[in-house]
Amino acid sequence: MEEYALQAVERLTTRPAEPYETLSVDPVTPLLGAEVSGVDLSQELTPQQEKEIKHAFLTHHVLVFRDQDITPEQHKRFAALFGELHPVSLPVEGSDPHILEIRADKDSRMVAGDGWHADGTADPEPSLGSMLHITTVPEGGSGGDTMFANMHLAYEMLSPTLRSFLDGLTAVHDGALPWRAAGQNPPPEYDVPRNEHPVVPRHPETGRKLLFVNGPYTSHIPLLSKAESDALLAMLYGHIANTPLLHCRVRWQPGTLVFWDNRCVQHHAVWDYFPLTRHGRRVAIEGTRPQS
Ligand code: SIN
Repeated sequence: MEEYALQAVERLTTRPAEPYETLSVDPVTPLLGAEVSGVDLSQELTPQQEKEIKHAFLTHHVLVFRDQDITPEQHKRFAALFGELHPVSLPVEGSDPHILEIRADKDSRMVAGDGWHADGTADPEPSLGSMLHITTVPEGGSGGDTMFANMHLAYEMLSPTLRSFLDGLTAVHDGALPWRAAGQNPPPEYDVPRNEHPVVPRHPETGRKLLFVNGPYTSHIPLLSKAESDALLAMLYGHIANTPLLHCRVRWQPGTLVFWDNRCVQHHAVWDYFPLTRHGRRVAIEGTRPQS
């Protein structure tokens, strides 16, 4: 591994021990994700629990809470500690406008999130984070994992020369692209978002740089020719998908809630359980406009 990449890994593996009084925080890998125990999300959090969860979130970016028997209202109350709730793009009449049902079964021909992406990057103010609570896992207990990738580290592992080139670029994110990729047009009632964001914004809370392009939503880099833009984006997507140390993988159990930071993490829902059923509910939190 190159020296700059080793240094990026070393910065994370030699972090000082974290000061938790109420929670146990057990890293999934030294570089991404943590299992959090010592909290019951059906209850209101104490100020100390809230402070510790926020610290763990900014440190590990993907938090896994097991055995959470929560109602949709308790799910939304937990999410609201981090910001305004983001309404679902295509609300279903009679359903909660802030809860997206995530479901796949024998009748599914595609599933949400089956490819590396972050949620809502085409929005003018992309999502801060998403909270997914899975209630039904595929029969037999295996399958339907979600993979996550650390976009701070994805950026820091690139050569200094490529990093400084990317620092000056923006990219267009287009909410119509996932529909077109599936051979469809967005439905007329969908107010399709299309926005330009820095390729390398800074995390609004930590100031750390990160790579902010993803396959389903990013259409092109306007300062480059189409061929250059396609080649550069393909190289970056390959880097994200083919660098296992960027990744962690969460195996769900009924009652697992995972909270991930859409600003600095991509995720990929693995659909390896057809025709079995997996079901859960996702709440997304509003973010802010990415700034370089
Ligand atoms: C998504 O939010 O993209 C779905 C994630 C999942 O089902 O694991």
